[in-house]
Amino acid sequence: MSGIVVLLSGSGTNLQAIIDAELPVKYVLSDKPNAYGLTRAEKAGIPIEVWSNLKQLENNTSDICKRHKIDLIVLAGFMRLLSPGFVQRWESHIINIHPSILPEFKGAGAIKQALDAGISETGVTIHYVDKGMDTGSIIEQQRVPIYNNDSLEDLEQRIHEVEHKLYPRTIKWLLTNY
Ligand code: GRF
Repeated sequence: MSGIVVLLSGSGTNLQAIIDAELPVKYVLSDKPNAYGLTRAEKAGIPIEVWSNLKQLENNTSDICKRHKIDLIVLAGFMRLLSPGFVQRWESHIINIHPSILPEFKGAGAIKQALDAGISETGVTIHYVDKGMDTGSIIEQQRVPIYNNDSLEDLEQRIHEVEHKLYPRTIKWLLTNY
């Protein structure tokens, strides 16, 4: 099983789940210097890089992938839209996790959008990344119930629990099938 690179912008609970599952994270890159996910990486002894400029972040990610023979670029709460050139270059090797049953509730705030819609279930999608926003082909989905009187925090927690199992399991499967 060869390595993965993780891109993130925030707290990195999905990165933590990936680390805890002992998946081979070779590098973590972020566009946000204060992303807590960087601290999680450092605690696990994983090298980090921060590039707030998207072009620089993409170029350095490509260099790392070539140097370390990376099979998979994993977006875990990375809040920027990657450029079409980068996405094309790594086609079928970039994946993302999104907290809804795509194509419903694309973009930011997907959990709140589902709660506000008054529906009885939402979920989690893992998909390949294409040049659109949350539009790439779907690899895996899991439904999550929404209960009466759920607060946003309740639903976020239920979704994150699913993400933290589904993402490591899917990454492992992909790595063994490249
Ligand atoms: C997750 O809910 C993921 O689905 C979305 O961003 C969030 C990242 O959370 N893309 P974390 O930074 O992994 O805690």
